[in-house]
Amino acid sequence: MISFSSFYQQIADSNLQHWLETLPSILGKWQREHKHGNLPKWEKVLNKLHYPVPDQVDFIDSVTIGSGEQLSPGEKEKLENLLRLFMPWRKGPFHIHGIHIDTEWRSDWKWDRVKQHISPLKNRTVLDVGCGSGYHMWRMLGAGAKRVVGIDPSPLFLCQFEAVKRLAGTHHPVHLLPLGIEELPPLDAFDTVFSMGVLYHRRSPIDHLLQLRDQLRTGGELVLETLVIDGDENAVLVPEDRYGKMNNVWFIPSVAALMLWLKKCDFTDIRCVDTDITALEEQRRTDWMPNESLVEYLDPTDMTKTVEGYSAPKRATIIAVKNQPNQDLLG
Ligand SMILES: C[S@@+](CC[C@H](N)C(=O)[O-])C[C@H]1O[C@@H](n2cnc3c(N)ncnc32)[C@H](O)[C@@H]1O
Repeated sequence: MISFSSFYQQIADSNLQHWLETLPSILGKWQREHKHGNLPKWEKVLNKLHYPVPDQVDFIDSVTIGSGEQLSPGEKEKLENLLRLFMPWRKGPFHIHGIHIDTEWRSDWKWDRVKQHISPLKNRTVLDVGCGSGYHMWRMLGAGAKRVVGIDPSPLFLCQFEAVKRLAGTHHPVHLLPLGIEELPPLDAFDTVFSMGVLYHRRSPIDHLLQLRDQLRTGGELVLETLVIDGDENAVLVPEDRYGKMNNVWFIPSVAALMLWLKKCDFTDIRCVDTDITALEEQRRTDWMPNESLVEYLDPTDMTKTVEGYSAPKRATIIAVKNQPNQDLLG
């Protein structure tokens, strides 16, 4: 069974200490209630991942674990077969003992767009909300973060993360907890909070912004990346049904609207640092994710539109700082 006890030990004398009042009971409930589905099968695979400490790791320019020289061709094939049991792999890529996990998303491209604009992560305590398989968490560690905590309710992403961590070395201060943002108490503790690719999945985006704010220390930095549309501060798309075949998209604001929402939630120093139309090369079907991908979500006769006729996915990265609490918002 996946254990969170080393995380509890590591935060016992940190500024996340007060999380221990509620976290063990929430995760204990998760462990008791997630006995169904594929989790037991994936946990068995995780228990087979006993491999040598990697002779090299790189989290600065990529996520690379092991030079590829430590395993025999037969051992490499066996490891690849085990890792394929966690398909589909969506967020990556990972290079593990010479095995290239070519994921659906080039998450490294997103990191390249974001990293140049954020406050240096050196010695910072970081929260990655909706972290997926944890790809960006390894890059945050590579950028010098003291501790990286990711939350994501998907059991498959947890298992993919655990697989990578077991191969990288369990001592790395990177942790994924199977939680939704709504399950976190206001921790007021993180130096940087990332929410990338999550806001449009939330039914109440303003509440999402307030929940993110609650996790930051005063003066801490929010890095928000989300789908946007063109338009002024009153422009918000609420798809009637699906958007790009996704059935869980609620609000896609314009950059101006999003900046207004952040201001209303009492963030300061709000700046949009990047906008980008998602390229077909960034999100695509691969050998490790053989299902439909972006090309099937777009209108084949006009790739500037989704199959539903909305604007094709465009993303913005916005950075903002947590201001002193505003009493009006606390009520
Ligand atoms: C589009 S993915 C983004 C992954 C990654 N952050 C990235 O930018 O590539 C959205 C992620 O949010 C997670 N998610 C969904 N609901 C959530 C919630 N309530 N709290 C935290 N994460 C959530 C999903 O499981 C999924 O992994």
